[in-house]
Amino acid sequence: MCRNRGSELLNILVINSKGGSGKTTLTTNLAGYYASRSFRTAIIDYDPQGSSLHWLKARPDTLPSIHAANAAPAKGNAHLSSRQGWVPLDTEVLLVDAPAGASGLLLKELVRKANFIVIPVAPSPIDIRATADFIKDLFLVGGARTTNARMAVVANRVRNRSNTTYAALERFLASLKMPFLTTLADSDVYLQSAEDGVGIFEMDELISGRERQEFMPIVRWLDGHFPNRFGVRTEDKQAILESSRKWAAFRPGSATGRFPVFQPPANK
Ligand SMILES: Nc1ncnc2c1ncn2[C@@H]1O[C@H](COP(=O)(O)OP(=O)(O)OP(=O)(O)O)[C@@H](O)[C@H]1O
Ligand SMILES: [Mg+2]
Repeated sequence: MCRNRGSELLNILVINSKGGSGKTTLTTNLAGYYASRSFRTAIIDYDPQGSSLHWLKARPDTLPSIHAANAAPAKGNAHLSSRQGWVPLDTEVLLVDAPAGASGLLLKELVRKANFIVIPVAPSPIDIRATADFIKDLFLVGGARTTNARMAVVANRVRNRSNTTYAALERFLASLKMPFLTTLADSDVYLQSAEDGVGIFEMDELISGRERQEFMPIVRWLDGHFPNRFGVRTEDKQAILESSRKWAAFRPGSATGRFPVFQPPANK
């Protein structure tokens, strides 16, 4: 990232209403990346499960510190954050770990403050439908139609790039007409990272070389480059909305999905 942002805060929102898509994994590893490059970095965790905060607690003292802010809803208030979370004024990079199911006022607030919105998506028909629905919400409820924030998607937890589910995910992400930055493999290195509080960029490169390579397009995009694998340089908001509407009804074998419907074997 260029250092010439002055004292401006870079606010990176990692969000998808679908649980388990990789929000915390992207948040913590981006935070580790910026902290290890001496940026004053903070994570604000909106998730009541507090996974990013657990990661920070596990973080060895020998690594560059990352400020932890807890913005999870206070008990009994499902919509608004308790606002206990604060970040130091001199923070340069703020990673916002959104909760699963973020909607309504919270979604609006998160989108309004963001400079960048990163949406991780896992390769399953359920994740594709849920993400398509979420992106509709992001536009219609969250105000992403009018925000200046740049948006991009990332495929996460991909085990096999040659199977039909991954092919459908690629088509879905390509159809969104917003940068599809990279595909992150399903890898034990991320599990290790979650356990130890150490980002993939802070581990020995012999351990996390492949993961770093896959992750780098996200960092380059945040740094102002557009390494979009499908050649679309910027997001086309109307096209994103139309495509999300179509993919929200995605079923394997549908016109959108275009891969064969699974036929159960006939009873003998
Ligand atoms: N690329 C990956 N390879 C292996 N494991 C992964 C990968 N990405 C995420 N995981 C693991 O999958 C689980 C869910 O990921 P993560 O917590 O990042 O998702 P999330 O979107 O933050 O979930 P939630 O919606 O519950 O907050 C975690 O155990 C995480 O370590
Ligand atoms: Mg999480």
